Amino acid sequence: MKAEPTCLPVTHPTGRYDVLVGADLLPQLAEFAQLRGPIAVITDSHVGPLHASRLGDVACVVTMPAGEQHKTLATVHAIYDELLAAGIDRQATVVALGGGVVGDVAGFVAATFMRGVDFVQCPTSLLAMVDASVGGKTGVDLPQGKNLVGAFKQPTAVLADVSTLQTLPAEEFAAGMAEVVKHGLISNPDLFGKLESGDWQLNRESSLSELQTLVATAIEVKRNVVQEDPFEHGRRATLNLGHTFGHAVEQVSGYRVRHGEGVAMGLVAAANLAARLEYCDPALQGRIEAVLQAQSLPIRIPAAYEPAAIYQAMFSDKKKAGGKLRFILPRDVGDVFIEKDVAEADVLAAITAVQATN
Ligand SMILES: NC(=O)c1ccc[n+]([C@@H]2O[C@H](COP(=O)([O-])OP(=O)(O)OC[C@H]3O[C@@H](n4cnc5c(N)ncnc54)[C@H](O)[C@@H]3O)[C@@H](O)[C@H]2O)c1
Ligand SMILES: [Zn+2]
Repeated sequence: MKAEPTCLPVTHPTGRYDVLVGADLLPQLAEFAQLRGPIAVITDSHVGPLHASRLGDVACVVTMPAGEQHKTLATVHAIYDELLAAGIDRQATVVALGGGVVGDVAGFVAATFMRGVDFVQCPTSLLAMVDASVGGKTGVDLPQGKNLVGAFKQPTAVLADVSTLQTLPAEEFAAGMAEVVKHGLISNPDLFGKLESGDWQLNRESSLSELQTLVATAIEVKRNVVQEDPFEHGRRATLNLGHTFGHAVEQVSGYRVRHGEGVAMGLVAAANLAARLEYCDPALQGRIEAVLQAQSLPIRIPAAYEPAAIYQAMFSDKKKAGGKLRFILPRDVGDVFIEKDVAEADVLAAITAVQATN
């Protein structure tokens, strides 16, 4: 028997919405998201052919090419053109059907097309479910760096249909698990413990009810954090655990390293830096590595990337405050904090310590 969807209400400064997590939600999009006007679906070239037809009656399906390299203003412009050609107006709801790239692009389109139309997220990657689709951040990359242009655009509903995970490539599932591990480290020791003990050895072939529980548990962490700090004035920054290192590695790799893989390497580097600065037990790094490795995630920064280049790349990330780098560091599982004053030599030493030796 199919489990009932899990409903996680989210409140934000201008209202509220529900995040529904369950199996086979897509066919009931209009009902669950309470949509009355026309629906404009934005998806990508991988997800569209697999899942767009499950959404039922929609006004148009706009398909962008898949991949982070297409998370650009040029793609946004092409989507505006297609929406106009399809006669989409202000009464429509933009529905993002895809991973985090589609969610970020479609959200930015929804925030700006006709000065803003309603927006619903249907995340189809694990990463988009547990992270990108909740919290209202949208945007695109510039050649100078990731996510440099964007807007806050709260969805009116999020439908995380875990049955879509069955078609997600295994490496993409693993990449999403990096954010799940991150969420455990930020504030859910029980979640981290289940991954550490092997109780939760999930993959895309796991039962839909197990996936539903995992996704809902991980979303809850993000929900609680963004609810407390919707505009990232304080605690929300802790969601960037592993990301200062991770984004820099992604950038230096020319985006060959996936976001989730960069985050995995970044979690290890953050633990190394925290231990180096005597904030946490040096054993924490090894515990994090074991959990990530069990998910087939990389735990070493490739040797080909110069520590100095990675350090430099950190400065193009807008997560630095006033020209200063900001690191989220763990004290323990479930206890992280923001550190603004870290010497360059310590950062470089942490990068070197977690680099592959060959
Ligand atoms: N807005 C936020 O708060 C936030 C948070 C975290 C990450 N992000 C952004 O999310 C992006 C990463 O998201 P991602 O990892 O989902 O990347 P992605 O959107 O590129 O998806 C990864 C790959 O999986 C494919 N895919 C997705 N769902 C599928 C499915 N069900 N079946 C088959 N293939 C599927 C995609 O086509 C793509 O090839 C980055 O751009 C990152 O900056 C945003
Ligand atoms: Zn992330």
